Amino acid sequence: MSTAPRIDIDPAAFWQDPYPMLARFRKEAPIVFVPQLGSTLLCNRDDIFVSEKQIDVFSSHQPQGLMNKLMGHNMMRKDGDAHLAERKAIFPAISPKTVKTHWTAQFQAHADRIIDALEAKSSVDFVQAFALPFSAECLKSITGLTNMRFEDMNAWSQGMIDGIANYTGDPAIEARCNAATSGIDAAIDDMLPVLSKKPDLSLLGVMLECGMPMESVRANIKLAISGGQNEPRDAIAGTVWALLTHPDQLARLQDGSVSWMQAFEEYARWISPIGMSPRRIAKPWRIREVEFEPEERVFLMFGSANRDEKHFDHAEAFDIGRDVSKSIAFGAGPHFCAGAWASRAMVADVALPAIFARLKNLRTVSPPRIGGWAFRGLLDLPVTWDA
Ligand code: HEM
Repeated sequence: MSTAPRIDIDPAAFWQDPYPMLARFRKEAPIVFVPQLGSTLLCNRDDIFVSEKQIDVFSSHQPQGLMNKLMGHNMMRKDGDAHLAERKAIFPAISPKTVKTHWTAQFQAHADRIIDALEAKSSVDFVQAFALPFSAECLKSITGLTNMRFEDMNAWSQGMIDGIANYTGDPAIEARCNAATSGIDAAIDDMLPVLSKKPDLSLLGVMLECGMPMESVRANIKLAISGGQNEPRDAIAGTVWALLTHPDQLARLQDGSVSWMQAFEEYARWISPIGMSPRRIAKPWRIREVEFEPEERVFLMFGSANRDEKHFDHAEAFDIGRDVSKSIAFGAGPHFCAGAWASRAMVADVALPAIFARLKNLRTVSPPRIGGWAFRGLLDLPVTWDA
């Protein structure tokens, strides 16, 4: 175990709102051991920005980890050449060019269809009515599993996320995760003959095309589903909520003086959908006065880094006018989000402009429920508009 100072947390309060404790950590002990999490946390931006690139120390290879056990050995749990080979294989499906020339039009069609169905109504839970189905429909396109229902995409993504965080070993959570991975395997089996006859630019299509071993194909599809559903969903609902509660800033977007991309990036900094990513210490290491032992678990706290006072003034405030270039909402190393370009197109090029253009005088009905620290987002967002 590391020699980092120990500070206890109240897990329930930390789930409700992690930011006060994260600010205290950055001030008192930016590298801190938290007994309730059984891990040493890196909380300031510069330590994470440097350490995430030192893969010989901060390793993603976690053979005993729940992700490998439940979802198979995917690229996010590999280091070095093994990792880069799989990143290279999926690039044709998620490259900026493919997102621009191939996926954005499909994302737009999903948004238009879902908003068409909304227009007959005048008030909904925005998470359930738009953010969730839109994120899932886009992910069905990107993964190539167009044979799935959007409800399954969302439920199976959540089932896996709960499964890989199931440190207490709850059998019901594990069973739900196993049901999710079996459902995805069946959907993949169903699509194999279709894609072998007519390969496409989806993740499944390009991985099959390059001859990747099937167990890696399955593991990487499950990774994309576990990491590609909640995050855009939470970023869309969160940014809409942030703008509806900051009408002066919404006005600057609607008059075009600030871009929707800037609004999305600022939200992802302010409330990072992925607040933490784990690493395994691969060799004895030292950062300033803290010594790390091999095999211990370290959490890279992206959510804290993005509120680091050293890089962001009034970091606790949502401000679309600020410089967000130092944000590490998509990571800061070789595992930088493979879906970053697709997400930017989904949220800033398609969802936000469409929602605010078509739902006139959109406004909140009551405050949303919000929660989480490893993954953080709105659980609901009651809204209404002038139908
Ligand atoms: C707002 C949306 C999103 C956010 C904030 C986000 C954030 C992240 C972060 C922080 C990481 C890096 C984790 C690390 O360094 O350990 C990551 C990795 C990853 N993300 Fe995303 N993500 C988003 C959307 C997506 C989408 C839509 C997809 C799927 C198409 C996706 C697929 C992946 C994959 C495959 C990795 C692993 C990359 C690797 O290991 O090389 N993400 N994401």
